[in-house]
Amino acid sequence: MQIVTSVAAMQRLARQWQHAGNRVGLVPTMGYLHEGHLSLVRVARWHAGKTGKIVVSIYVNPAQFGPMEDFSRYPRDLKRDLNLCRAEGVNVVFAPSDREMYPVGASRREDRTAWRAVPTLSTYVVEENLSKTMEGASRPTHFFGVTTVVAKLFNIVLPDMAVFGAKDWQQATIIKRMTVDLNFPVKIIVAPTLRETDGLAMSSRNKYLVGDLRRQAVVLWRAIQKARVAVKKSKTIPATQLKANLGKFIEREPSARLDYVAFFEPDTLSSVSKVTRGTHMALAAFIGKTRLIDNARL
Ligand code: PAJ
Repeated sequence: MQIVTSVAAMQRLARQWQHAGNRVGLVPTMGYLHEGHLSLVRVARWHAGKTGKIVVSIYVNPAQFGPMEDFSRYPRDLKRDLNLCRAEGVNVVFAPSDREMYPVGASRREDRTAWRAVPTLSTYVVEENLSKTMEGASRPTHFFGVTTVVAKLFNIVLPDMAVFGAKDWQQATIIKRMTVDLNFPVKIIVAPTLRETDGLAMSSRNKYLVGDLRRQAVVLWRAIQKARVAVKKSKTIPATQLKANLGKFIEREPSARLDYVAFFEPDTLSSVSKVTRGTHMALAAFIGKTRLIDNARL
């Protein structure tokens, strides 16, 4: 397994692979890898075939964190990540520095990133519609950081396909749209959410859940189950009613505070007023200081 830290070296390698006819699969991550990430690697391998090349990018992207968010304390363990990737048969880990991804010297958008010296680009990729709701409403600068870094990764790794997790449903939907809108020759694959045995969606941020918070965090998954039962029972339910019920249910946990529950069409993310079978549900809640998200089809 090769570890590449420079953009130029990664592009050189990608060109060689293209030339040799190897399919290239990219799995973008922010590291602190768990089984959910590794399942994406396996999906990428399946699609790329034995002679394919799998690249896992590990980069905690400052541009997608808000000023009050957990960028500096986001968990990092590159050594462990590299071992996990090696064991999965990953061909290359691309792990650039901030300087490599956001070279200093360019101007920055004061309105969006005044809080830190990086990112220092003056060109960004901004998706204007799907990014407005849910995560985008709660974290206004988040998705422009995501689309920008993913577009950069596509141009650096030149993948034939890239795998994203359904865990971040809105993110995957936005990436698909960006790929179509900007004609990236990349097939976007969305792989299922992996969960702990009690239903908690795997996440690097679960590391923050110490003591009783870990138990309380299952309430997101339990809320999804509750919505499924409700839909099964009464076929259609007004979204406002279900939201109110689930909000109360979640906040019965002593350290839980609901951010949002949303019901929407899975492909367009447009919100629905009546919840039925097939409606997609997403929610975000703070468990203590940790903000968790989850989603599922009802
Ligand atoms: P990160 O949170 O590290 O997630 C990397 C990828 O793993 C994403 O596609 C995410 O949806 C997927 N993933 C996370 N938890 C999962 C789970 N339990 N089951 C299946 N897949 C899961 O998402 C990001 O990083 C960043 O925004 C990134 C796309 C890398 C851009 O910086």
